[in-house]
Amino acid sequence: MESIGVLMTYPMNTNLEEQLSNRLNLFKLWNYPSFQSFSETHANSIRALVCNTKIGADANTIDSLPNLEIVSTYSVGFDKIDLKKCREKGICVTNTPDVLTDDVADLAIALALAVFRKIPMSDGYVKSELWKCSDYPLTSKFSGKAVGIVGLGRIGSAIAKRAAAFGCPVSYPSRSEKPEAGSYKYYPNIPDLAANSQILVVACALTDETRHIVNREVIDALGPKGVIINIGRGPIIDQPELVAALVERRLGGAGLDVLENEPDVSEELIGLENVVLTPHIGSDTVETCNDMSDLLIANLEAHFNGKPLLAPVL
Ligand code: DGY
Repeated sequence: MESIGVLMTYPMNTNLEEQLSNRLNLFKLWNYPSFQSFSETHANSIRALVCNTKIGADANTIDSLPNLEIVSTYSVGFDKIDLKKCREKGICVTNTPDVLTDDVADLAIALALAVFRKIPMSDGYVKSELWKCSDYPLTSKFSGKAVGIVGLGRIGSAIAKRAAAFGCPVSYPSRSEKPEAGSYKYYPNIPDLAANSQILVVACALTDETRHIVNREVIDALGPKGVIINIGRGPIIDQPELVAALVERRLGGAGLDVLENEPDVSEELIGLENVVLTPHIGSDTVETCNDMSDLLIANLEAHFNGKPLLAPVL
């Protein structure tokens, strides 16, 4: 097979780059920095675009690659890809679902435990040798807390299973009269869900419909003892409202793996003791990154061999 140009939109995860070069001797790699100075010939040779949650595929990038056939994101979320443009141009889009579900769900529970049991603070307490001088303040119990999950898809369901194992009653929002989600309770909307939860987990995709779906009404319904966990996307929560509620103690705490405008973090969030922050690392384990690389490459191979895609978005 002839050599195929692949453009990566970001300075790559070495693991994926290595596997791409090793496995696909048929592929020629062009990295993002050099993309800035691409000649027309280079742009013409690109048939696949590999992107991620940091740098996606916007309309300009897609338009600048006249022979682009496939966009593959190294993530389950595809909110950074201009799907409309891809659809218009008949470009295929793939993602990496399933293989990362466990890791993201694990992180959601880890964040909840970290907030309730104040794990980051207690780590600092021991390491700064305060243990000898004073008793550590009491923390809050996690087991048995009512967990509301916004987005009971693959990742949300995996979080629900884990929460249930901690004895937490799980509920979710559903407009349908007879949703099929096992024994979990459902509420007709997110404010009602929040009013009946002690922990609200954001696990849905970012779309026009879900942007700022967690707003002041939802935050106030959760109340001063409530905790929000976000492993979905930052803009699903109205962040200024979240920060104000945390500062004013109208909300008990938050565990956030994703932020609006990440990697920028507001000073206010950094200063809050009742907030635990992680740098969008939901799927970042060695094992899962290997699996994501495999799936992404398998999608590219399938496309260029005329076979059905393994994880098609479009
Ligand atoms: C993804 O893959 O979309 C997630 O953001 C991983 O955390």
